[in-house]
Amino acid sequence: MLTSKNIIELEYRYGAHNYHPLPVVLEKGSGIFLWDVEGKKYFDFLSAYSAVNQGHCHPKIISALVNQSQKLTLTSRAFHNNILGQYEKFITQFFAYDKVLPMNTGVEGGETAVKLARKWGYEVKKIPKDSAKIVFVEGNFWGRTLGAISSSTDPSSTNGFGPFMPGYEIIPYNDLEALKNSLKDPNVAAFMVEPIQGEAGVVVPDENYLLDAYNMCKSKNVLFIADEVQTGIGRTGKMLCCDHHGFKPDILILGKALSGGVFPVSAILASDEVMLTIKPGEHGSTFGGNPVACQVAISALNVIKEEKLAENAQLMGEVFRTRLQDFADNNNIVTKVRGKGLLNAIVINDKEGSDIAWNICLNMAEKGLLAKPTHGNIIRFAPPLIINRKELDDCIDIIISSLKEFEV
Ligand SMILES: Cc1ncc(COP(=O)(O)O)c(C=O)c1O
Repeated sequence: MLTSKNIIELEYRYGAHNYHPLPVVLEKGSGIFLWDVEGKKYFDFLSAYSAVNQGHCHPKIISALVNQSQKLTLTSRAFHNNILGQYEKFITQFFAYDKVLPMNTGVEGGETAVKLARKWGYEVKKIPKDSAKIVFVEGNFWGRTLGAISSSTDPSSTNGFGPFMPGYEIIPYNDLEALKNSLKDPNVAAFMVEPIQGEAGVVVPDENYLLDAYNMCKSKNVLFIADEVQTGIGRTGKMLCCDHHGFKPDILILGKALSGGVFPVSAILASDEVMLTIKPGEHGSTFGGNPVACQVAISALNVIKEEKLAENAQLMGEVFRTRLQDFADNNNIVTKVRGKGLLNAIVINDKEGSDIAWNICLNMAEKGLLAKPTHGNIIRFAPPLIINRKELDDCIDIIISSLKEFEV
């Protein structure tokens, strides 16, 4: 049998070095738990970057996957399949939109949203040919394609990969004045934003930012695109993070937990006015809308609702932040606790680029809890939303005991 060490060496020898994982090799997952190849059990506090909101291998989602995959897996969109229409009806009613466009990964959802906004800009808003502009914010993350990194302000995403996509403008996050200025340009088709910036380190904007930004966009006939790939599907304590602020984005991007982490399923939702500007042959994907994805997504969304996972995320998130804030107030290792629902992070009292947060994560892994640092000194905590109070308290005990070992 291969040990963790052997497997890590295999990856290093034969795989591209485009990730730097914690040295843990997992072979089984169930609910909030993961097991490594040596049989050690861990609490999962990353949930595959918020893809496994429903818990690992949720029996209902796996059953949807198995049943459909024994019948029909892929037809491409050259033909109809008997599940896609049912899924489209289900998801559009679930989120109250006219139309859905199914894709696979989160970044494809983002690409689709940007293309759709451009198309709407030309056909409905009458922006002159090839002049449409999309406004993004600093610190955004929506994936690794050229379209996505062209809007990035993170050098590790962009260095060595230029030239970049034209027609983008990047303004500061959480800055309504900057948005107001950008929206003066009549060629702006859309403003695209994460309601909370996950990869940037769970950066939560001011309470009024999103709704005010949405209203500004409306007054300038600009589409508001919400990238809820990480914040959506119950993660922040509501089905969508925008639900906290009482508005419905013009284009909604979903991914990750739309499949409960079973395999890549993403989608964008919009009104007829926006979605029907794309005509047959103008956009698509071989796997997008495949019947397995459709059944898995229906099941994954039903689980969130039936098990009241958004509500649980809201309650457990409050417990998490209260206990961690209490620790931070009486200690000098944590300088900030932030988040919403069960998407949270702590900022470690250390310079960006140091390895204390990495070492804390190694220490927590030894104690049986898996989390990952981002941007050097930030640790994100995002367990599956099925976690209960007793389990959460046990996890917070582990986190605090690790942090205490790194007091400065
Ligand atoms: C907000 C957001 N959008 C898009 C993506 C890209 O998703 P994917 O990795 O499935 O392409 C991510 C991934 O972390 C994300 O956090």
